[in-house]
Amino acid sequence: MDGRADAVVLFGVTGDLAAKKLIPALYELTRRGRLDVPVIGVARSAWDHEQLVTAVRKAVTEAVDVVDEAAFDALAARLAMVSGSYDSADTYQRLAALLTGAGRPLFYLAIPPAVFTDVVGGLTASGLAARGRVIVEKPFGHDLASASALAVTLRGAFDPARIFRIDHYLGKEAVEGITAVRFGNRLLEPIWSREHIDNVQITLAEEFGTQGRAGFYDRSGAVRDVLQNHVLQVAALLAMEPGGKSEELHVLRRMRPLTPASTVFGQYAGYADESGVAPGSTTETFVASTLRIDTRRWAGVPFHLRAGKHLGATTTEVVVTLRPASSAPPGFAPNLLRLRLGRGDGLGLTLNVKEPGGTVAAHPVPLDVDFGTVFGRRQEAYERLIDDALDGRPDRFASEETIREEWRIVAPVLDGSVLPRPYERGGWGPETAGTRPAGGWHPLGR
Ligand code: BG6
Repeated sequence: MDGRADAVVLFGVTGDLAAKKLIPALYELTRRGRLDVPVIGVARSAWDHEQLVTAVRKAVTEAVDVVDEAAFDALAARLAMVSGSYDSADTYQRLAALLTGAGRPLFYLAIPPAVFTDVVGGLTASGLAARGRVIVEKPFGHDLASASALAVTLRGAFDPARIFRIDHYLGKEAVEGITAVRFGNRLLEPIWSREHIDNVQITLAEEFGTQGRAGFYDRSGAVRDVLQNHVLQVAALLAMEPGGKSEELHVLRRMRPLTPASTVFGQYAGYADESGVAPGSTTETFVASTLRIDTRRWAGVPFHLRAGKHLGATTTEVVVTLRPASSAPPGFAPNLLRLRLGRGDGLGLTLNVKEPGGTVAAHPVPLDVDFGTVFGRRQEAYERLIDDALDGRPDRFASEETIREEWRIVAPVLDGSVLPRPYERGGWGPETAGTRPAGGWHPLGR
C-alpha cells in the first residue's frame, strides 16, 4: 500500500455508529498519536462546524471516563464539516476543495444502503475515489445477489486493494485470539476435533433492544444484523485449519446452508409497537440455528448458533462441550471450555475433581481468567480497524469471497418461510426445540 492515509472522511457523521463507535475511535487514535490528519464529517443534515465539534465532544464524553483535553483539542482543530445531499455534485466539489492537499484520503461509509450508490457515484465522478481508499460498513447487501451487485459497484470505483470491509468482530482482541488459544496450547490443539468435541455453542446475546435503530433493524433482523457476519465469522475461526485467510475461507465454503427445519426465529414482546417498525412486522429479533460443517475435523459435530436482542444477558460466548472421558466414573459431567469474546472477555474451563468424602462423586470446578485483569485496557475493535485501514493493512477485514459465502449459508432462512415466535424480554428467546443442543444450552457467564 502506498503510505498512510492523509485525511479521514466520515460519511454519516451524524449517525448512530459515528457517535457510539467511530468518533470515540478517532479520538483514541489521536490520543495515542496515531491520527494527526484532517477529519471531515459529511452528512445530509445541515450541521455547521460548531455543531460537529459539539457532537464530537458529546460522543467522546460518553465513551471515556476522563477526556484528555489536549487530545480532544487536537482532534477538534482538524475537524471540518460538509453538509449536503449525497446525490448532488456540489457536495463532492466542496469535499474535494477541502481535500486538495490530500493524496490518500480514507473514506468511511457509515451510511444507509439506500444512499450507497449515490455516495460511491459522487466520489467517482469527482475524481476522489481514484486516489482514495474506502471502509465499507455492513450491511453488505441484503442477500447474495445484492451483495454481488454492491461488490461490482465498489470494484468499479476503487482499487480492490483499497476496499476495506468491516466486520468489527474481526477487530476484537478475543475474537482474533481464538486461533492462538486453539493452536497455541498442547492442552487444546490435539483435542480440537470430532473425536473429542461433542458440540459447540455460540451465543451473541444482548439485554437491550434496537436502541433507536428500529427503522434500520426492521429491514434487517437478527440473521442479517449479526448472524450472517459476526457469528459465522466466529464459527469460521473456531473451525478452520491452521493457516491464514485462505483456510478461513475454505472452512466457510464447507459450511452447509442453514435449513429452515433447524432454525427458530423469535420476536420480543412489544417489538411490533416500536416506532419505525412496520405494523405486523415479522422481523426476527432472535435466531437459533444449527450449523453443519463438512470437513473431516467436524463431520457430525453440531455448531449451535444463537443471537438476539432483549435476552437475559449481554454476552458473546462460545461454549465447547467435550465428549465424556472414556473411563470417567458415572455421573461425571463433560468438560466445558468457554471463550468469552465480548465485554468481560476471558476464558474458562471446567474440570472434574472428586468431591470430598467416601464416594467418588464429581465436583466440576471452573478455572477462569478474565483478560481485562491480565492485560488491562485493550484497544477497541474500531480503533484497531481504522488504524489498519489508515495503513492499508487488509488482514483484519472481511473479503468479498467471505461475505459471499456467509450469504450462501444463511440464504435458506431468509425467504420469509421461518416465522418468529413471540418471547418475553429478559429471557433466552422462544423455545428452541428442534434446534436446541441435545444436552440443552449451557448457562452463560463465569
Ligand atoms: C452490530 C449490530 O454489527 O453489532 C448491532 O448491528 C449489535 O445490532 C452489535 O448490537 C454488537 O456488537 P458488539 O461489539 O457490541 O458485540
